[in-house]
This record gives sequence, C-alpha cells and structure tokens, in this order.
Amino acid sequence: MSYYVTTPIYYANSLPHLGHLYTMLVADTIARSKRQQGIETFFLTGTDEHGINIERAAQRNNRSPKEQADYVVSYYTKMTAAFGLDTAHGGYDIFMRTTNAFHYEGASELWRRVAKAKTPKGNDALYKGHYEGWFCAACASYKTEDEYAAASEPGEPPTCLVHETKLDRVSEESYFFRLSDYAEALLELYERPDFVRPEARRNEVKSFVAGGLQDLSVSRLKKSVSWGIPVPDDPNHTMYVWFDALSNYITAIGFGNEQQNRAVGFDKFWPAQHVMGKDILRFHAVYWPAFLMAGGVEQPRGIYAHGMWVDPSGRKMSKTLGNTVELDVLHKYFSIDAIRYFCLREMVFGQDGRFGYENLIDRTNSDLASDLGNLSSRTLTMIHRYCEGRIPAGTISDESRLAAKRAGVEDEMAMSHFVLHARDEFLREFDELAFSRALEDMWSIVARADKMISDAKPWDLAKDAKQRETLNAVLYRAAESLRWLCVLLYPVMPSAAREIYKQLGMDKDVSKIDPRGLTWGDLPVGQTIAEVKPLFPRIDKAKTMEQIKQEAGAGSQEPETERGSTPTAKEGAVVGDSASPQGSGQHATEADAVPGVTRIDITDFAKVDLRVGEVKTAERIPKADKLLLITVDIGEEKPRQILAGIAQYYEPEKLVGRKIVVVANLKPRKLRGYESQGMLLAASVGEEGKPVIATFAEDVPNGARLK
Ligand code: MSP
Repeated sequence: MSYYVTTPIYYANSLPHLGHLYTMLVADTIARSKRQQGIETFFLTGTDEHGINIERAAQRNNRSPKEQADYVVSYYTKMTAAFGLDTAHGGYDIFMRTTNAFHYEGASELWRRVAKAKTPKGNDALYKGHYEGWFCAACASYKTEDEYAAASEPGEPPTCLVHETKLDRVSEESYFFRLSDYAEALLELYERPDFVRPEARRNEVKSFVAGGLQDLSVSRLKKSVSWGIPVPDDPNHTMYVWFDALSNYITAIGFGNEQQNRAVGFDKFWPAQHVMGKDILRFHAVYWPAFLMAGGVEQPRGIYAHGMWVDPSGRKMSKTLGNTVELDVLHKYFSIDAIRYFCLREMVFGQDGRFGYENLIDRTNSDLASDLGNLSSRTLTMIHRYCEGRIPAGTISDESRLAAKRAGVEDEMAMSHFVLHARDEFLREFDELAFSRALEDMWSIVARADKMISDAKPWDLAKDAKQRETLNAVLYRAAESLRWLCVLLYPVMPSAAREIYKQLGMDKDVSKIDPRGLTWGDLPVGQTIAEVKPLFPRIDKAKTMEQIKQEAGAGSQEPETERGSTPTAKEGAVVGDSASPQGSGQHATEADAVPGVTRIDITDFAKVDLRVGEVKTAERIPKADKLLLITVDIGEEKPRQILAGIAQYYEPEKLVGRKIVVVANLKPRKLRGYESQGMLLAASVGEEGKPVIATFAEDVPNGARLK
C-alpha cells in the first residue's frame, strides 16, 4: 500500500506567506496520518521556477533567474525547517524544483508523448497555430475580456483583475493543445466519486467544461520567454509554464528519468492526491487530466481544492493588497502546533477561512490552553497527587458501582463506545479531508472527559477512603481518553501529541501507532507517569497584539496600518540576514516580488479625490454589451459623464437616484467614442469579478469627500 500527496509547487518569484504554508500544513497532516497507519507515503512540495514572471523578478533584483529561484528556495528551506515540515522533521519527501535536470527530461518525455497522441476524437492532440491575446505574467495565463480591466489611458494595456498589473499583448506562433476535443472525456472523469473535492468545486469544474473548451496555447517563442524548458525538437519554443509545472508531479517520482524512478518509483506512488487552493483548480482539474490523457498516463487519485485565507475583513490574502500574514511573525509568537491546529480547525471544508491574529490567540487560549492542555495537566497532576504518579485501575467493583454512578463517573462501556465512535468519525472525516469537523469530534472527547472530572470532583473523592475506586476510575478514564487523543491528534499536532504521550509514561513512538488499532483499556495500569509540563501557555492577548502590531506584521488586522518599508530580518526570524545572497539584511517580500506594488502613505492616498455622487441618468451604449453611460451629480455645476463596465449586472433604470462613490480626479479618457470623466467604485466579487457598486447606508450630500 502506498500513498502520494502533493502541494502546488510555488512560484519562485516571491517569498511565501500563510496561504502557501497552509497547503503544506494540510499535505503534511495527510502524509503523517497515512504514515501513522503504516502506509508508505510520499509527500511532495516545491517551487515552480520558470517563466517570464521569474525572469522579471530576477531582473528587478539584479539576479539571474536561477539565482532568483535559489534565493527563494533558500527561504523555503529555512521556513520549512522552522515549521517542522522538512524531511528531517518527518515532513516532505521531496522539495521539487522545476530546474532539476531530471524534471527537464520528464517534462520533455510527456511533451513528446502528447505530440504523438490523438485526441478522443481522432485529431492530433498538438498542433502549431498562431496566438494573439492579453497575457498576464503573474497569472502566467492569457486573459479574456472579463478577466481584465480596460486601461484608463488610450493606447495603454489593460490590467489584470487578479494582480492589478499591466497585461502584455502577445501575438506569436505557438503550439496548441487540442483541449476542445477532451470535454466529453473530462466530464466522464468527473463522474468518478472523489475525483474533484469538495462537491461544490466539482460542480464548478463540470459546468466550466460543459460550457465548451477552447484549445490551449502551450508554448511561447523562445525570444519572448527563454527561461523555461525548450520544446523537444523545436528549440525556438519554450514550454508553457503550466505544462512544465504540472508535469512535476510525475517527473518527481521518476516519469521520464530512470535514475529518479529508481530513487523514488513512479509505479509505486502514482497516482497522487493533489491538494491546492481553489485559485488553481482549473489547471489541475481540466488541463492536467487532459495532458495526462494525451500522454497515456493514469489520472490522479484525486484533486482537493481548499478555500482561501482571507483577512479579517474578508479580502483575499495577497501580496498585491499587502494583507498577507508574515511567516516570521507567526513563527515568533505562536507554537507550530497552535498554528497547525488553528489552520485546520478554522478553515471549514470547502469554504474560505478568515485569518486574524486575534482569532488565533482566542483559539489557542480556549481550545488548546483551556480545553486540551487543562484536561491533560489536571488529569496528570491528580494522578501524581492521589495515585503516587501511577496509572490507577479503572475497574469498579459491584459494591462501588452505585457510588461511582452517583459521583457522575461514566460507565466504562459507555465511555469506550463514545470514544470509539468519535475515533471512527474522525478517521472518516479525515479521509474526506474535512479536518475541521474531524477536530470537532476530538474536542467532543475532551469535553466529555473534562465534564466527568468536573462532575465527579476527584479532589472531594480523595478525602473519603471509601471512594477510592471511584476516584481511580475517573482518573483512569481521563488518562485513557488522553492516550487516544494523542494518537489521533498526532498528524495535526505532532509535538503536543508526543509530549502528552510521554507525560502519560508511554515510551512508544506515537507517530507509528495506527489509530485504527486503538483498544480501550490498553493504557497499562500501574505505569509510572512522567513530570507534568505545561503544553500550551496562555497567550496574553493585549500584549501580544501590541507586539505584533509593532512588528509591522499586523497589516491583515488593521488594513489602515501604514507600512513604509518591508520588515527586516531579525534574530529568531525564519530567515536571517545570511539567507540573502546580497547580504542586504532585507527580508525580501512583496516589494521584491510584485511589480508596481508598494505600500502608500497617507499623502499618496490623499491624491485620490473620492466623491459622493448621485446617478442622474443611465443608459446602455449601442454595440457595447458591458458598458453603461451614466451621468453623476458630484456637487459640481454639471453632472459628470462616466462609462462603467457594469451593464451585465445592473439595469440602467435601477441605478438612477443611487448614491455612489466616484474617483473624481482621474484623467478623462475616451471609450467607444464617449468621454469618461471619472470612475465609479465597485467591489469585484467572485472569480468572474462581478461588480457590486459601493454605496452608503446613511444619507450623504452629493460631492462630499471620502477620506
Ligand atoms: N506555481 C503555481 C502552481 C503550480 S502547481 C503545478 C502557483 N503558485 S503560487 O505560488 O501562486 O501558489 C498558489 C497556491 O498557494 C494556492 O493554490 C494555495 O495552495 C496557496 N495559497 C496562496 N495563497 C493562499 C491563500 N490566501 N489561502 C490559501 N492558500 C493560498 O499557483
């Protein structure tokens, strides 16, 4: 039996934040749980190192693309070690890099196979054509009209809605993958239970494919993108970065390279369970299976797309918005187990999760310090105090049964059934990758054991010699529940599980105990327990929040916080100065990575003149199905005329009379022959970027300034 789990390979143009760490934590937890069950497991993570985006980051930093990748990888190496995710700590088995020579060979082999393949409809899977379109380097994909915002200046390129960076016009000879021929085959694949999870994501993918697929450009001319894998037998072309990147999942285990195959074993580990954020589900659930079909390679075991971490106000965490959670800060103030627990507990299956340091502190204090930590320390302390530090017997003789019941001690059968049931539920939810629900099951054990102690009051029982059996029974049940919790929680909280297990006096390696084999009553009576040490110290919320804010890492808590510069690496940080090949001591973050994105100070913001306006008229524009022509009173002599790309979502009649927010000092521009004298503000919602106009709950006069 074997199992293979992967995270995405992360772009080597910028340093990771909590979002990247999260997928690693999920995959690491899955890998640990499989290994614990005796299944031979291979866990892959790594970096995606080719493409124009990395070339550009390298140029900005005066590095070669490979140096840029090495720099980012050196951060990852330190970060994964600091968070206990590397091989030495029982984490990943390979840190995959697409610049590995064996990857070049494997990716080329896949390409060659695709180049020879016929589609399910009998056509050539690959053909040469000509492509012209707007390309986003940061997304590494071409953008359709609804995925970009038109430029404010005539002649300027449009802007990517995801990255808010300018798009490149690309027109060149290109190899095309005949994706359009794969729709039926893909739809059939989605019928496989568990192929795409969760269900809502699977439905999204299905309807996307059912809506028809366009052929996919899978190469760029070498003269436009040279940093990549050359197309086999046609070195004027470079492989499309997603073809290159996706193939890492098979090249890592030996596809197309005998040496790597001997070292890992393609047949042993493939197919993989892929884990990724929903942002890149389409690449994994549509393109990748189609490439594999063409290459004659078996499909993945499954594709699991988790939600995204958003900041406390619900905005996606991204470098562009400057609201990412910095890993150095996280590492400095929180234990790894607390971070792991929080991430897995807080992100509900299939949904986005809100990350705030305050939530993290609250959960650490309540679920870990007060619940689990307290159950463990009070149980073990009482065993020291009342039972000379040895696990007491849990059996209750017939004579004491009534007294025990009166004291609120659980019947052994009832307790063991309860724990057993929670274990089965936990494992089932875990298999479904529904970690949050699985952890709730574990906390039901914590709550039940805790209640039993509070009801039975061992400190009172200890005063009465006749209650000895009852006292022992309470403590045995609590200690045995703890033993089960250690085994079950190990994949989520490796250090805490090991520590409690040790304190219980157990000498086995908890990472190797199969939870499916747990039997109630196996905790040896008479076993000497170890010294009780606090596990999860309570965090002083006010003090820690203050410190975090001062660290300048509180951007996500307080979007208005000014951050003039990126934080410098400091002692104890995940990456110290030595990690920077330039020795600058600068912690290379967003400024290093994302073009044109810098934090602004208040004077920059003040340059934007935002005004309250009232829509006076609104009408459609002939032959422009996305644009509305509106006139808006912003307290000036004459209403402004504004063109807004909202026609697909708003009826013009319904807009008249509405209060909106207008950017009043934008240079006028011409669109479809009309002058637009400003811009209205709207939220961009969902993947399709549906506009939702910003408005006011209270009455405000036209022309009032927003600041
Ligand atoms: N290089 C591609 C992936 C190629 S895989 C063959 C890529 N890289 S990335 O650096 O942008 O990483 C994206 C992934 O990072 C997401 O799919 C997710 O796993 C993780 N996350 C990045 N930001 C995230 C959040 N805000 N929340 C949760 N996960 C996030 O795409």
